[in-house]
Amino acid sequence: MNFNIALLAGDGIGPEVIDQAVKVVNAVAAKFNHEIKWTSALTGAAAIDAVGEPYPDSTHEVCLAADAVLFGAIGHPKYDNDPKATVRPEQGLLKMRQKLGLFANVRPTFTFPSLIDNSPLKRERIEGTDLIILRELTGGIYFGERGRKDDGNTAFDTCTYTREEIQRLAKLGFELALTRSKKLCCVDKANVLESSRLWRETVQNMEKDYPEVEVSYEFVDAVAMRLVQWPSSYDVIITENLFGDILTDEASVISGSMGLMPSASKGVHTSLYEPIHGSYPQAAGKDIANPLATVLSAAMMFEDAFGLKDEAEAIREVVNKSLAEGIVTEDLAPKGIKAYKTSEVGDWLAKNI
Ligand code: IPM
Ligand code: MN
Repeated sequence: MNFNIALLAGDGIGPEVIDQAVKVVNAVAAKFNHEIKWTSALTGAAAIDAVGEPYPDSTHEVCLAADAVLFGAIGHPKYDNDPKATVRPEQGLLKMRQKLGLFANVRPTFTFPSLIDNSPLKRERIEGTDLIILRELTGGIYFGERGRKDDGNTAFDTCTYTREEIQRLAKLGFELALTRSKKLCCVDKANVLESSRLWRETVQNMEKDYPEVEVSYEFVDAVAMRLVQWPSSYDVIITENLFGDILTDEASVISGSMGLMPSASKGVHTSLYEPIHGSYPQAAGKDIANPLATVLSAAMMFEDAFGLKDEAEAIREVVNKSLAEGIVTEDLAPKGIKAYKTSEVGDWLAKNI
């Protein structure tokens, strides 16, 4: 088959980890007889430097025309410490989510048996963890009305959701739960927030359409606690944008290997696949960053966007093999054992596909 993939490498370690994913995808394509056409486009600080805009229209056109988007990372420290900067790399991310209609962010958390002791949590707490947080990505406080009043001395951000926005996200949650252990947890703050009460009411109304799915409703503060106490009790979690932002970062440390966690964002137009880690500027250009989260995001792309399970499995298998054989970057290499460079890991994976 022929696939057209938009490549948005972005900032920091983005280009390096993307390069490795490209090697692996090309190797899979060669093995399974697919033709891949890559189209690179600018995003993030790199795009601001080049054209003054973090998600230029030309990049949007490339994404719209593609079968999938493979994304690295965006963000640059020169903007973090400048509260007056009017254009920021992160705005590109939000604009991209909105313009591509990427309303659902899928972030899995699972453990790798060989890495379980890398987790800051005790082995017995995390063994068997395999959960997915489905975060709403184009609504809520991220996109609500915001501003200043009283000569700048009062600030507000508003969280708005429509029933329709909740339904389309919840539908994906129910469908995902059906393919797994049929447990769905709706996370909100319905004891305080009206928007959360609409979430709960909407999901409750949908329960009758999915009689096989067992639905629970939990408050976000309690989930923040239980997620580190007993993560294996969760399966599919659905939640609004800001709660999902916070809980997915929390969940990412459970596995102890943030450099390994992939994600997908899907919605109205082209779906996007990206590692959950950020641009990690301290490591940029050093050829030390772990490329596996991006490589595993490419596996999600094969399975979800192209419907090709064997190709996805081939990638996951070779990643597991690299972990088992210690072909890993310095974040995963045990003390005193040789660590491989980012590019060496990519070469090894491509060769062993
Ligand atoms: C994420 C990031 C973004 C978010 C930032 C960079 C705007 O933290 O993808 O989770 O808050 O959504
Ligand atoms: Mn985040």
